[in-house]
Amino acid sequence: MSFVVAIDGPTSSGKSTLAKIISKELGFTNIQTGAMYRSVAKILLDNNIQIIDIEKISEILGKLDFEFRDTEDSQLVIVNGKDVTSEIRTKEVTDFTSEVASIQQVRERLTQLQRNMAQKKNIVMEGRDIGTSVFPNADIKFFLMANANVRIQRKIKELRENGEDYNYQEVAESVYKWDKDAIYRSQGALKRAPDAICIDTSTLTIDDMKNIAINQIIEKQKQIKSLELEI
Ligand code: DC
Repeated sequence: MSFVVAIDGPTSSGKSTLAKIISKELGFTNIQTGAMYRSVAKILLDNNIQIIDIEKISEILGKLDFEFRDTEDSQLVIVNGKDVTSEIRTKEVTDFTSEVASIQQVRERLTQLQRNMAQKKNIVMEGRDIGTSVFPNADIKFFLMANANVRIQRKIKELRENGEDYNYQEVAESVYKWDKDAIYRSQGALKRAPDAICIDTSTLTIDDMKNIAINQIIEKQKQIKSLELEI
């Protein structure tokens, strides 16, 4: 049986960092669902498709093929055979993704693909609705958070690393909007699952964050094993 680790939380709360290190440590497949929503947004932008054009969007959704390819120090996102890793991280794509992620057909199709990806594989999946909607029965769920200032600083740094320079105010307004869009969308809204373990990453080092999560996962694996032995 496969083991599913679900990680949810708002923008720049540390999800991707945590998912990357624990999937490496445990030898699990890491699936960044945000990259999937970003990729759909990028395809719509490139082809000048409006979000109300559900027919064209459905056509695109039917042909989507994702691959997450691990390299020594990162993970490449390959969509329909093309490496889109950096181009889906621009602020323009991020802004548009927030809208695209509210389209019901997009959420349904990506949820279906995410569930398929997890078949017969141990996975770490990070996003906004993993523990609530995609895998409500995940073996373990984490909900990450961090204070707004820390998250804005992290986003500024991430954008800079990708060659884009925005000031604090611009990024603060965007982060606020992305979170609001995610919290208030009617389907797949950002919400902490009642059984999720909360981690405030504001002042944690990456090692601290990793140790907290790994200890919880090991504990959970032991519990599952002892239950299996009892049966
Ligand atoms: O995690 P991220 O910043 O790469 O996510 C990009 C966008 O996709 C963000 O607007 C939230 C949305 N998203 C979502 O709606 N559901 C998910 N499971 C993952 C991301």
